[in-house]
Amino acid sequence: LVAAAGVGGLVGAAATVSLRSESAAAPSTGAAVVPLSDLGARIVPFHGARQAGIVTPLRQQAHAVLVAFDLENGVGRDALRTLLRDWTAAAARLTAGLPLGPEHSTAALGLGAASLTVTVGFGPSLFGKAGVAAKDRPDALAPLPAFANDALDPARGDGDLGVIVAADDPNVVFQAVRALQGIARGTAKLRWQQTGFARARGASGDEGATLRNLMGQIDGTNNPKPADPDFDRRVFVGDEGPAWLRGGSYVVIRRIRMLLDDWDALAVDRQEKVIGRRKDTGAPLSGGTEFSPVDLGARGTDGRLAVAPDAHIRLAAAASNAGATVLRRGFSYADGLRDDGTPDAGLLFLAWQADPRKGFIPVQQRLANGDALNRFIRHEASALFAMPPGAVEGRYLGQELLE
Ligand code: HEM
Repeated sequence: LVAAAGVGGLVGAAATVSLRSESAAAPSTGAAVVPLSDLGARIVPFHGARQAGIVTPLRQQAHAVLVAFDLENGVGRDALRTLLRDWTAAAARLTAGLPLGPEHSTAALGLGAASLTVTVGFGPSLFGKAGVAAKDRPDALAPLPAFANDALDPARGDGDLGVIVAADDPNVVFQAVRALQGIARGTAKLRWQQTGFARARGASGDEGATLRNLMGQIDGTNNPKPADPDFDRRVFVGDEGPAWLRGGSYVVIRRIRMLLDDWDALAVDRQEKVIGRRKDTGAPLSGGTEFSPVDLGARGTDGRLAVAPDAHIRLAAAASNAGATVLRRGFSYADGLRDDGTPDAGLLFLAWQADPRKGFIPVQQRLANGDALNRFIRHEASALFAMPPGAVEGRYLGQELLE
């Protein structure tokens, strides 16, 4: 279905995609063509040396669904290759705002790309299956160690294949996930799926303003920036990694529930001490404005450290963890109420790094054993995926590993 549609030629036409009006006056096949809105027409390039969805779009999309698949029993290398080839072709079309073909759900036909990205990766458990040798699993892709206070649900974690689907419209995300799932049928089955959201486009006076999480904090301020001289080295796999993964990255996914009723009962000045930053402006408690460098040695007039010894930003800082850094690009989630009446809501935490052993693992080891935030959060699911480099036109995601 996908391959026959001639992906390459049509992608170029995507910028002019428009949709048909389905007003009462015009039949659904009518000629009236309504251009997509600014939001719907936006396209994030799919092809390239790096996968989209890690650094691009710079402004994180408003909606995401994270999905993990397990290979069906007995699936061989050829079937895995076909799956990745078909997923790549489908992702190239969907991210360009194009339907997959005549059979593709008509519900999707009125939708543009809305900055859709589809980012695909391999879990530790893939190695040793489908002709992918166990010995080819990079050391950095070993299953994550257990951390203090973990309360993980295995049914919502791990997986042979992981896909992050994000766009500025939830319908676009839904249709893309359905399409990928349909393509996988017979080869891989859905293991888990989690839905998240960030800020809607246009909702803030300043589109570039740092997002807030469900605790109300400005979250993402001290992320590494693409302009930083060491950004690529910290986020993307370089020459030290296996050849098939160069230009790729590792993503750690953690479903972290927030104990929001407990958090909201805490006075704002106490909340600020827990993080080490002001809640209103995001400025560090050592002084200045949101982007002022944090001074971990600064003391108040009472002689105490301005950023408390157990503050989240002190323990998470690269300076406290031998330089370990991650790029945080998570989504909030809100899945109704739990049996005890508290919100099942929190953060689908996504951390990108060149090597989890120099990123998430040491940072989380430190946080798990002393972060003041621990009283207010529970890590409830976990996954790690190696995300291969992007596909240039004519190649498929993961081809370097599977050819
Ligand atoms: C910083 C919230 C989990 C790593 C921050 C900041 C907030 C925050 C508000 C300050 C603003 C900023 O620089 O972004 C949260 C919440 C979490 C959570 C609510 C859980 C629900 C984690 C986890 C990790 C992590 C699991 C990594 C293992 C970091 C890092 C910083 C940070 C590295 C920047 C520290 C610095 O250098 O200043 N977080 N965080 N966070 N967080 Fe978290």
